[in-house]
Amino acid sequence: RALTGPDQPLKGRRALVTSGPTHEPIDPVRYIANRSSGKQGHAIAAALAALGAEVTLVTGPVTLPDPPGVRAMHVESARDMLAACRETLPVDVVVCAAAVADWRVADAADQKLKKGSGGDALALSLTENPDILATLSQAGEGRPGLVVGFAAETEQVVEHARAKRDRKGCDWILANDVSAATGTFGGDANTVHLITADGVESWPAQSKAEVGRGLAARIADALGPAA
Ligand code: CTP
Ligand code: CA
Repeated sequence: RALTGPDQPLKGRRALVTSGPTHEPIDPVRYIANRSSGKQGHAIAAALAALGAEVTLVTGPVTLPDPPGVRAMHVESARDMLAACRETLPVDVVVCAAAVADWRVADAADQKLKKGSGGDALALSLTENPDILATLSQAGEGRPGLVVGFAAETEQVVEHARAKRDRKGCDWILANDVSAATGTFGGDANTVHLITADGVESWPAQSKAEVGRGLAARIADALGPAA
């Protein structure tokens, strides 16, 4: 059977996937984090690899094993995640599925903060993290041919996601409803809408593994066979 046959449409293609939360240090023993499990990003990495792509998965701290057939880079903070992504370029496609912390502590303490050191109220000053999806979308010459982001929204899901696509300059956005009622965070199912230049496609509620396979198939269609 030919190596570039219908089973391996992404043979010869390089893919980068970000996954999981990031941890932003407060001091050597404490951090700011979020509820991302990494399930969706890891499922996408696995699905791209199953279609023959050479996949690098840049993941924040998760309890999941590395998917088979994928090169995994383990990072903690948003800044480390961006550096690992830059190292991995050039790629044909990037999927930013990580729940990157929007803020980090402005100057993390070198030593453990002691109780009482802030009086009866300790204030943390936060500063914005680099936006990995926007940075890769606007990378100029080294820009991946196809840049896919997620939009985690709790209301007006499609409207907010459309605005996000325009703002960041990515090609596609998978919008998902993370309102508490849907149980997306940590759960196995996901309801997503694929937003492209051509419009919006709403996918039925399905497992994160199925969303991963569906997205990988769409990516294979969009990229076509490798030269
Ligand atoms: N993202 C990223 N780097 C960041 C923040 C977000 O790469 N510092 C990516 C996520 O991986 C996702 C997309 O941007 O693909 C959208 O993330 P989201 O949190 O929904 O959007 P934000 O732009 O951070 O806006 P907000 O959280 O205010 O809705
Ligand atoms: Ca965010």
